[in-house]
Amino acid sequence: MEYITLNNEVKMPIVGTGTNTYGKVNKDYNGELKNEIPELESALELGYRSIDAAISYRNEALVGGILAESSVPREELFITTKVPAREEYVSSKESTRAAIDNSLKNFKTDYLDLLLIHAPIEDKEQLKNTWEVFEEYYEAGKLKAIGVSNFKKNHLDELNEFAKVKPAVNQIQINLTEKNKELLDVLKEEGITPVAWGPMKTEEHQDKVLDEIGKAYGKSGAQVLLKYQIGRGVVVIPKSHNRENQAANLDLFDFELTAADVEKIDNL
Ligand SMILES: NC(=O)c1ccc[n+]([C@@H]2O[C@H](COP(=O)([O-])OP(=O)(O)OC[C@H]3O[C@@H](n4cnc5c(N)ncnc54)[C@H](OP(=O)(O)O)[C@@H]3O)[C@@H](O)[C@H]2O)c1
Repeated sequence: MEYITLNNEVKMPIVGTGTNTYGKVNKDYNGELKNEIPELESALELGYRSIDAAISYRNEALVGGILAESSVPREELFITTKVPAREEYVSSKESTRAAIDNSLKNFKTDYLDLLLIHAPIEDKEQLKNTWEVFEEYYEAGKLKAIGVSNFKKNHLDELNEFAKVKPAVNQIQINLTEKNKELLDVLKEEGITPVAWGPMKTEEHQDKVLDEIGKAYGKSGAQVLLKYQIGRGVVVIPKSHNRENQAANLDLFDFELTAADVEKIDNL
């Protein structure tokens, strides 16, 4: 596994697993919760250590239970979760503290590696209060890094007006249908690490080119796409319910794309 160093020197695995449909009937985001997640157990067995969770996914306690019971030591895991930008969680500092305390309980841990605001909070006072609570837990060592998700440049500018601790990460959609080029440039300038959600999304004509590039290395188009993303400093958190795909998504470190490959993908 390779790691990326965040702006506060914390190291984050460059590949993790998403969990938004894990443990749900029909692998449906809105599906009822089951009481098992074989996919997460399989991911841990295969070597995934970075787990992307969220309060909104409703499965935090289930995911946390599996992590806590696994044989992987806590210090090897990189646990991310997210506080929803909803009144229930951000209307007061007390509600944000309660949300974080509950996540710590769900993961049966005394610290989270990364906590994100799941989406922009439009009310400035609420944004400030929420970030101040994040900073409070960060200073107390209960959060090793703090960041945001789905923030555009204007949201980052607003946060920067009062943030004492800069966001370490912005988790946004980055794939070949949503390249987010301008925002990626902003994040680079500001020293904020981009984490790609939905990193696998492509269109059919793009798949053909990715598959073709992969042939030279004995890799699939999906692996080429992930390699392209991590090659430009983007953390990826692909999610799969299929063990073979899970294994493939980790098997990215024994080949290099050429500059010509990268240019081809850039132009897709
Ligand atoms: N911050 C946010 O607002 C936000 C929004 C969306 C998602 N997320 C996070 O990002 C994670 C990933 O995003 P996502 O789940 O939407 O999409 P994704 O990881 O880009 O794509 C998942 C799809 O790709 C397929 N897939 C995975 N690996 C593959 C491979 N090697 N070959 C072929 N197909 C493959 C999976 O099918 P199989 O199961 O059949 O492999 C699944 O249908 C989520 O789980 C969640 O943790 C965050």
